[in-house]
Amino acid sequence: MIPDKAPQEDVFHCSEDLKKESHIPSFEKYKELYTRSIENPDEFWGAIAKDFFWKTKHTGCFLDYNFDVTKGEIFVKCMEGATTNICYNLLDRNVHERKLGDKIAFFWEGNEPGDDLTVTYRELLQKVCRFANVLKSQGVKKGDRVSIYMPMVVELVVAMLACARIGAVHSIVFAGFSAESLCERIIDSQCSLLITADGFYRGDKLINLKLLADEALQKCRDKGFPLKTCIMLKHLSKEPEAAGRQSPPAKRACPDLEEKRKVKKTRPVPKVPWNPDVDLCWHSLMGGAADECEPEWCESEDPLFILYTSGSTGKPKGVLHTVSGYLLYAATTFKLVFDHQPDDVYWCTADIGWITGHSYITYGPLANGATSVLFEGLPTYPDVGRMWQIVDKYQVTKFYTAPTAIRLLMKYGSDPVQKHNRKSLKVLGTVGEPINPEAWQWYHGVVGEKRCPIVDTFWQTETGGHVLTPLPAATPTKPGSATFPFFGVVPAILNESGEELEGPSEGYLVFKQPWPGVMRSVYGNHERFEATYFKKFPGYYVTGDGCRRDKDGYYWITGRIDDMLNVSGHLLSTAEVESALVEHKSVAEAAVVSCPHMVKGESLYCFVTLNDGVAFSQALEAELRKQVREKIGAIATPDYIQNAPGLPKTRSGKIMRRVLRKIACDEKDMGDISTLADSSVVDELFRNRCATTV
Ligand code: WT7
Repeated sequence: MIPDKAPQEDVFHCSEDLKKESHIPSFEKYKELYTRSIENPDEFWGAIAKDFFWKTKHTGCFLDYNFDVTKGEIFVKCMEGATTNICYNLLDRNVHERKLGDKIAFFWEGNEPGDDLTVTYRELLQKVCRFANVLKSQGVKKGDRVSIYMPMVVELVVAMLACARIGAVHSIVFAGFSAESLCERIIDSQCSLLITADGFYRGDKLINLKLLADEALQKCRDKGFPLKTCIMLKHLSKEPEAAGRQSPPAKRACPDLEEKRKVKKTRPVPKVPWNPDVDLCWHSLMGGAADECEPEWCESEDPLFILYTSGSTGKPKGVLHTVSGYLLYAATTFKLVFDHQPDDVYWCTADIGWITGHSYITYGPLANGATSVLFEGLPTYPDVGRMWQIVDKYQVTKFYTAPTAIRLLMKYGSDPVQKHNRKSLKVLGTVGEPINPEAWQWYHGVVGEKRCPIVDTFWQTETGGHVLTPLPAATPTKPGSATFPFFGVVPAILNESGEELEGPSEGYLVFKQPWPGVMRSVYGNHERFEATYFKKFPGYYVTGDGCRRDKDGYYWITGRIDDMLNVSGHLLSTAEVESALVEHKSVAEAAVVSCPHMVKGESLYCFVTLNDGVAFSQALEAELRKQVREKIGAIATPDYIQNAPGLPKTRSGKIMRRVLRKIACDEKDMGDISTLADSSVVDELFRNRCATTV
């Protein structure tokens, strides 16, 4: 239950100034609307839906669902009968109906300071229509899946919205993932086309993306899944030299976004391999494409996109989101959680390859006609003041980042922050993992000069948008708490036997009913969807997170309670890393646990048992690190690898991760280890543990 009155003590209140212009200016207003959203969802969401364009109206109730596995198949249907197009709502509606054609949609800021460009809503619409026509000319139809593997460039937004325009389903794979991961995702989603770029720089480091894409396509062919088409954007090079048989067309047939970039790059460009049987050049295709493209009118529950997230079995799950519910939810959470105003300049530092970028760089902001910063680079390049330099450059008003970035910058003290003017800032947000109160205080005090409310937004790839979150002018905040549910969301805390706990309590965080943005299925595997989220406690959506509710009703996420790790705000499963390790010929068995890390939140501590006769060495350690990077990606690189001639196991042979966690964290108090088959292995592991830094 949400309290009638917000607490007045030990909380942070929003300034009166900010309340004046706010959509939800008080806790009472939040409470009133929240109650309405639960008691009368048809009326609540119906009013919101009026702001958007529907080719045909929905019939019947707003949300129809079954959340109880014992009563049949799990389903959620939002606005059945309605037809619309999400790209039309993001672009055409803003350009034609709301007359925002000349408004800037994105300030694109490249890796190099000074390398930038702006894109208006009208320009974005034109690019999207052209690229939609390109996709159609390549035979992409409604319902087809398209993989996108691109850096943070405007063309990534163009590619995703072009898919949405023609009813194709995009599956974006974060450009930090390995070729192996890309291949796995292409095959799982049965994609017919891949969109990529030549490469990009992350700070000083060149990422030769096309090389990785080619490697992935080769792996796909080897596994009997040949992809016919790969479209490559030239981001780094104007005239890339070809190492392959035939070079991509050197001249650009169409004046495009690249021409607007002020800084011409001086860095070396990658050699781009070119396979004329498969590869096509983005620019020459765009040159030949028409500026108009009638949107495909989609049903509410037609798929919009697939986005892969780690699963506890090790195989990533293709989280499926659908058109209408996701549109309404991304748009509404963006508007209210960042208290969006027409003259805002909003900046979310996430990568579009993660759900945060999908919902809060592309869909939510564009649905509101917002102006956003789209940043390609790193917070520490060329120096640790880059974020605040960008805030000042574009006069950013709403800023959204991850606790790991805050902790990283905190290490360098307040000088690099204070060198830049941050007067424009009004609201600060965080996402991805629990934020420790110390980092919260620094963000609030140093970055926001105690002037800006902090919205600590709890959500998941699966939830589509924020589910527990403060509203900046309405919710008094407590550092480290994601506070209260968003409209339409009904949380509960369950104990191990599935009983709902009332009042102050701690247990499993679950949700009792759907909201428009909740995922609809695991792509191609509805049973896995039901088993993962609905089986443990019938009648509830299970988040996999632990949670505490305090005496004032505030929710505090305590972290994952399954075999998942959260490294720098990204979920990884222990099983996924373990299976990458055991694929190495020298490894017999592996067990991975996490230990706390100052900046990343958690770090990966791996125990490996080697095959008979293999000696542990630094060279082997390096090989194992490389192996994990190649199988999954750099985010999964092990921090520590310990040689473990024996692992602590139960008599039935199950690895006791709880014990390994204690060893990794250097905690001598083991708790009850009576089920351990051979306790001498524990002493041995303790003696040889890696020296960790937290
Ligand atoms: C998991 C979801 C949602 C976009 C980024 C991550 C953790 C997320 C918070 C927060 C505490 C958080 C949870 C969740 N998480 N936000 N504000 N406070 N924990 O998306 O990769 O699907 O990960 O991230 O553990 O289950 P994701």
